[in-house]
Amino acid sequence: MSFTQIRTICCIGAGYVGGPTMAVIADRCPHIQVVVVDQNKDRISAWNNPDLTKLPVFEPGLDEIVKRARGNNLHFSCDVKKAIQSADMIFISVNTPTKNKGLGAGQASDLKWVEACARQVAQFSVGHTIVVEKSTLPVRTAATIQAILEATSSQEALEANPSFSVLSNPEFLSEGTAINDLEKPDRVLIGGSDPNAIEALVSIYKQWVYPEKILITNLWSSELSKLIANAFLAQRISSINSTAALCEVTGANIQEVANAIGSDSRIGSKFLSSGPGFGGSCFQKDILNLVYLCGHFGLPEVANYWESVVKINNWQKKRIAKLIVDKLFGTVTGKKLAVLGFAFKANTNDTRESPAIKIAKDLLEEGATLAIYDPKVTKEQISLDLTQYPAFESKNNQDLPTNLAELDSNWMYCKSIVEAVRGADAILILTEWNHFTNIQWSEISPLMRKPSWVFDTRGIVNPKHVTKAGLMCWRVGDGSL
Ligand code: UDX
Ligand code: UDX
Repeated sequence: MSFTQIRTICCIGAGYVGGPTMAVIADRCPHIQVVVVDQNKDRISAWNNPDLTKLPVFEPGLDEIVKRARGNNLHFSCDVKKAIQSADMIFISVNTPTKNKGLGAGQASDLKWVEACARQVAQFSVGHTIVVEKSTLPVRTAATIQAILEATSSQEALEANPSFSVLSNPEFLSEGTAINDLEKPDRVLIGGSDPNAIEALVSIYKQWVYPEKILITNLWSSELSKLIANAFLAQRISSINSTAALCEVTGANIQEVANAIGSDSRIGSKFLSSGPGFGGSCFQKDILNLVYLCGHFGLPEVANYWESVVKINNWQKKRIAKLIVDKLFGTVTGKKLAVLGFAFKANTNDTRESPAIKIAKDLLEEGATLAIYDPKVTKEQISLDLTQYPAFESKNNQDLPTNLAELDSNWMYCKSIVEAVRGADAILILTEWNHFTNIQWSEISPLMRKPSWVFDTRGIVNPKHVTKAGLMCWRVGDGSL
């Protein structure tokens, strides 16, 4: 039997992964109708907003693609049943957060949304359907999905004569460069055992990706590779951040060290920027999931090894908040601190697990008043981040502040750098937005209360320019300051 020619795709989950991925597939495959569905009506409305600046996800280049494809072969809808019924291929791209209660709380991924999707697919599918795992999942989840799909028993479902093939096709896109990552991927990974289903998915990617970049593996290798890729990337950041701390006490400079070690082609120069700790929806969640899996499979040493990557990351955030207090004469009570950047990295409006959240909470707890400016993050989002945290975090972390409502009243949202820094005792750069690299320190300095500090957690300012403007400077990993 030849492979299934895909004419219609349904993607469940219109988030940071599902939305941009489907937009690029639709753009590159005009012969395929792509429907992205989501249970969240507001999100779907935002994807359908005629004003392209109001899309729910900010990604450079995404608006142009949506403009080209939306209404032609790219559609956003809440009608999950209809989209599943007419789909030849279904991508599952829903969130898989860390479990906050029950078995594996604080580590294992919560698969309730993935399971719910599999049940919907089982209920509404018609004929043969290829189900593709896009969400990052623990190893062997495909077996669970397959079992749910095959266990369907409703009369309506049986009359539709469904059959299924499950593939794993993890996403490696990085926020802020998602469109480029999707259009020019280092590799596309497809795991599965059904050659027809694999060929069908390959035929989609082949529209714009060289065949030699499409890797085929078994299901479990594909699922595991995604977790391990993120664990390796996060491990590099914890390695460089731990080295930054060493640089600060020895007089070395982390940027020089990174350059020196990165010139070794075996190490490579990418992903060696020291910062306030990694954030984003994936790294911590995926490592904790890996730690849980290692424990589950009787490998406690391996679990401890990977857990230390997360521990160093938490330590880095705490270390930075503490050193800010120390430098400001041991107290920030009643002091105004300008926070520049709240997103977990530049070029995104995403704040999930942003190091800014933890650092801001620690400083609020110390009594500081924060004036927060980020070019893309909304006031509502910051307020949500400062007043909520996952239940598992509160269980595991004794250091968390207790009165979050009180903390929420001690910060203000600013619409510009100038508004944030006026009267401030210190500036904290927490996201590496371009705007912050180009700050004219001689213009900013007179607006601040002296003595005043610049704390650059991203290593993007020139300390000479800062000190020349009469400000004191701390830069991550810079032992010469
Ligand atoms: C998510 C996961 O975080 C990541 O691990 C995985 O690789 C891909 O999916 P992301 O797209 O960034 O990444 O998540 P998010 O922006 O939260 O989007 C998920 C969407 O799924 C949400 O809009 C949510 O409303 C939707 N959803 C969730 C459904 O439509 N149905 C459900 O049953 C559950
Ligand atoms: C990551 C992976 O890169 C991607 O392949 C996967 O699919 C999802 O998770 P993302 O979280 O979007 O992507 O961004 P990434 O660029 O990896 O950055 C993650 C965090 O690490 C950010 O907080 C970033 O600021 C930080 N980081 C990254 C550093 O601190 N230093 C670096 O050198 C690189």
